[in-house]
Amino acid sequence: ASRALIRKLEETIENVPDFPIPGIQFKDISPIFLDPKLYEDVIVDLVAFSKGKVDAVCGIESRGYLFGIAIAVALEVPFILIRKSGKLPPPVISEEYDLEYGSAVIETREGQIKPGQKVLIHDDLLATGGTTEAAAKLVEKQGATVSQFSFLIGLKDLKGEEKLKKYNAEVYHILEY
Ligand code: PRP
Ligand code: MG
Repeated sequence: ASRALIRKLEETIENVPDFPIPGIQFKDISPIFLDPKLYEDVIVDLVAFSKGKVDAVCGIESRGYLFGIAIAVALEVPFILIRKSGKLPPPVISEEYDLEYGSAVIETREGQIKPGQKVLIHDDLLATGGTTEAAAKLVEKQGATVSQFSFLIGLKDLKGEEKLKKYNAEVYHILEY
């Protein structure tokens, strides 16, 4: 990403201390959507990372959808929803994971990710990596390969990237805190 884009995002993303629980520094990305030009610049940057490299994009509910669909449309590849449990109708494949705060289950519709596909997993934020790792397991359970991970933000102290090393995939984030 260009220095200008990084700076603009740093100015725009709001840091909210002690939300949703004490000790968490919440990064609020919602001001990005007040600025369509900035949103477009983010998409162009994320698309450049994945252009020609993936057959499908998986986005993780809910903030992973905000950029993920636009990336998939620009790449002209399918977009697959990875949702929190109980939202998608059967048949689904499920995976449990630990969050930065709490634990959760994510699911995807069985058969939407095709065997042999090279997949981009996209989310807004890489924190502990628990969510992303669970998404990667869903991709592999369907016989596909995770070839890329992309995020707007990586939180380096939480060492999420270490959990992703075993996938031998490219990892990209625009910003790091
Ligand atoms: C946040 C964030 C990532 C995840 C990162 O989502 O959007 O998806 O946590 O955390 P991890 O790397 O420690 O797993 P959250 O579950 O809060 O839900 P949301 O996207 O629906 O707001
Ligand atoms: Mg999320």
